[in-house]
Amino acid sequence: MHVTMVKKRLANGEPCRKCAQAEELLRNRGLWDRIGDVVWADEADPASPGMQLGARLGVTLAPFFLVREDDGSETVYESVLKLVNERLAVAAKPVPAPALADADLDAAARDLAGRDPSEILRWGLERWGSSLGIAFSGAEDVVLVHMASEAALPFSVFCLDTGRLHPETYRFIEAVRERYEIEIALMSPDAAALEGLVKRKGLFSFHEDGHEECCGIRKVEPLRRALGTLRAWATGQRRDQSPATRSAIAAVERDRTFSGADGPLVKLNPLAGWTSAQVWSYIRDRGVPFNSLHERGFVSIGCEPCTRAVLPGEHERAGRWWWEESTKRECGLHVGVAPPKR
Ligand code: ADX
Ligand code: SF4
Repeated sequence: MHVTMVKKRLANGEPCRKCAQAEELLRNRGLWDRIGDVVWADEADPASPGMQLGARLGVTLAPFFLVREDDGSETVYESVLKLVNERLAVAAKPVPAPALADADLDAAARDLAGRDPSEILRWGLERWGSSLGIAFSGAEDVVLVHMASEAALPFSVFCLDTGRLHPETYRFIEAVRERYEIEIALMSPDAAALEGLVKRKGLFSFHEDGHEECCGIRKVEPLRRALGTLRAWATGQRRDQSPATRSAIAAVERDRTFSGADGPLVKLNPLAGWTSAQVWSYIRDRGVPFNSLHERGFVSIGCEPCTRAVLPGEHERAGRWWWEESTKRECGLHVGVAPPKR
């Protein structure tokens, strides 16, 4: 297989920005040496090799990639992400490591405790590659996506689309998808379960009888489905997010609530020891995208009806399910889920 990348040179002589981003992505993922040759399409010169190739293949956008098989057949990719996922990353995926015995996991957890979050994440990515899913929704998670992308190793990302997220959050998801040229698998709730709940109790039942039922359908069941395809997952949880519920989380642990593709599932919380200030200085220093709601007093952001802005000095989780006791302000993603009531 031979891959040709066609890059555009603009009429003013500058290289096109999207072509440079595509090259950067390939380099970051350690895939640049899989590109056999680069051909320039000079906007000002229709006779340039890239323009000729584009005309022959009927492609007007740049960059694009031409994959030539040994038997002479050709496939055009206009998306670098599609090329990576379908043709390049497959060969670069690490061989999934055998399941870790509890004793080995405990030893790794001891060794990694207190290490820099990027080292903890790298340890997971080297072992599981795209069988490790980053659970993405907020500021901490985009830090993990940034670190994973810098590690230039395969990884996957999923987001639980409850259907009740803020419009700003959907825009943020798209901004992250575009910035890192990654796929973000959006997990939707089971339609029949959701329709049943809304029919029985309406759209705001959580204000009356607690958030467990709605979170169970909109978040926990889709999470269970997402995790069922993975061997490990990474979350953006920090210990100081909630003295009531998160003060003991470890950077590396066995997930005792959910199962993965082969049964046992490992959970990484690489930012467990970081403070909010550390997260935000990382975001600022590297120009990492963030949810615009943070500019309006929102700190911890979940679903729109269950999240409010907090006042200066208020704890960050004071803005989540504020009508409930602080010990109950978890939706079941990270604490054992009680069996259904009889
Ligand atoms: S929650 O349990 O109260 O909703 P929180 O908002 O603090 O969780 O987020 C903690 C971590 O859970 C995030 O860093 C992220 O890894 C994961 N998470 C929370 N909400 C989602 C979501 N909608 N989709 C994917 N992951 C999520
Ligand atoms: Fe439902 Fe609120 Fe839970 Fe979102 S956070 S799933 S709206 S109860």
